[in-house]
Amino acid sequence: EIPGSNPENNVVDIFRNYIVQELHKLTSIDVQVIYNALNTPATLDKGDLILPLPQLKLKGNPKEKAEEISQQFIKGKYIEEIKPQGVFLQFYFNQSTLLSLTINDTLANKTNFGSLPGIGQNKSIIVEFSSPNIAKPFHAGHLRSTIIGGFLSNLYEKAGYKVTRINYLGDWGKQFGILAVGFDRYGSEEQLTNDPINHLFEVYVKINKDITEEGDESPTNEAAKAYFRRMEDGDEEALKIWARFRKLSIDKYIDTYKRLNIIYDIYSGESQVSQESMKDAVKLFEEKGLVHVDRGAKLIDLTKFNKKLGKCLIEKSDGTSLYLTRDVGEAIKRYNNFKFDKMIYVVASQQDLHCQQFFEILKQMGFDWANKLEHVNFGMVLGMSTRKGTVVFLDNILQETKEKMHEVMKKNEAKYAQIEDPDKIADLVGISAVMIQDMQSKRINNYEFKWDRMTSFEGDTGPYLQYAHSRLSSVQRKSGIEESELLKADLSLLTEPSAVNLVRTIAQYPDIIKKALKTHEPSTVVTYLFNLTHIVSQCYDILWVAGQEKELALARLALYASAKQVLYNGMTLLGLTPVDRM
Ligand code: ARG
Repeated sequence: EIPGSNPENNVVDIFRNYIVQELHKLTSIDVQVIYNALNTPATLDKGDLILPLPQLKLKGNPKEKAEEISQQFIKGKYIEEIKPQGVFLQFYFNQSTLLSLTINDTLANKTNFGSLPGIGQNKSIIVEFSSPNIAKPFHAGHLRSTIIGGFLSNLYEKAGYKVTRINYLGDWGKQFGILAVGFDRYGSEEQLTNDPINHLFEVYVKINKDITEEGDESPTNEAAKAYFRRMEDGDEEALKIWARFRKLSIDKYIDTYKRLNIIYDIYSGESQVSQESMKDAVKLFEEKGLVHVDRGAKLIDLTKFNKKLGKCLIEKSDGTSLYLTRDVGEAIKRYNNFKFDKMIYVVASQQDLHCQQFFEILKQMGFDWANKLEHVNFGMVLGMSTRKGTVVFLDNILQETKEKMHEVMKKNEAKYAQIEDPDKIADLVGISAVMIQDMQSKRINNYEFKWDRMTSFEGDTGPYLQYAHSRLSSVQRKSGIEESELLKADLSLLTEPSAVNLVRTIAQYPDIIKKALKTHEPSTVVTYLFNLTHIVSQCYDILWVAGQEKELALARLALYASAKQVLYNGMTLLGLTPVDRM
């Protein structure tokens, strides 16, 4: 058996394993080396798998070797053709074997097609994502973290990991002293219960304005500082109102995340890091001689380990902790609780340095698990604002997208009339618009938030993917053929090149999952799904179901059902809810 191979869950591995065995017989090269060298070509005209011969480090001229091997290689049930192309070998799968294995696999395994549970068996991962700040806007950075983190959590689940989703709220710091004082002055109980997130932000803006006007030495600011001091000292009275703000905000967040198909296992936050754990951490640094004191504040000099990391403050002169210290304390707590095999932080690239710093600190503290931490970063969203203003809350964005989507849908009156719950569909399609726009290019890139572009039904957009899915549903509905009949289809009737290309693409899906686990890029999946839907749409011109003889209709429908399953799996992996009508 070849490590990393998944023939039960990955059709292509059945073919890959055959190729590996044959090449091993011909060259005596180690099976694992051959397995790793086999790649999926960028386009189908270069074969189903491609092997760069130099990677096998054979003696002799690789070009001549390619010729020689292609002549000796035994073709048959799995490999139809092998072509030498310079130093490459191109392998073409046997079409009828591929068709029956792939279509049957998707139809039988349904949502499990593409799952690779062996990879993460008995392993656990923490994915920390979203992590907004209470009383501050949920900005584009949090939106991206939510979308990318939701995807990564699903991805690791598909790979068999036990996944813990953590939201690490910004729920601690002097701003909560400010907020408490502000709520006394401007707060409304009613608004707090109805719309906590916006109301707390309003209050926060007003009181901050007061403090700016009155000055740092003003009684207002002093009161805020004193309030937070009491919170840090564990004063129950002071913590009571803070706990209410926190709870009401979380309740509201839970609803919003649900719209995006995200359910957190844990709402943690900066407030949840214990003072003791941070004191312990600081003590450990001191023992290691890493700390120096500057005007009462404690610093660690990380330049000793890595010049770029600089010196960082870990304790203020008044003994209070910092964002950085809290991350150190929280990571230690998480490791003690979960003994994770991997932990991912989905945080904007503005915090690259911050993450490098606390990863390094943990490493220098002697925790060998520090190398299990990974920062998954991303670029900025430009020009994201609602019609009402520049401050953006996730809820408002989703609301506006839904309205916009509703307008677009209404343009097709006949179709619109058939939709049972247009409001719900507009919401789901609107969410796809926002999410796909976010995930379609490499995450490190900045992108511009474009209302018209992302809600268009044409081009590579979220609504287009939804449209492709609903059209596949419609083909099935209109055929009148029961799903249970599909497994009996005679797949040898699918001979057209477009049918074959569609199946070859469907078969790649498990490998796409594998690739995404390496890249941590949602775009790996998004690009694949667009490619898949484009091929499906080419098929519609040629492979009719309506008006065909029963046998042929059944075979073609099995093909479309298989494509639909993969599209469905990919969309849900990304966090979308595929619709059947729109
Ligand atoms: N609340 C932070 C912010 O809005 C993000 C938290 C990121 N996660 C972390 N462990 N530091 O900037």
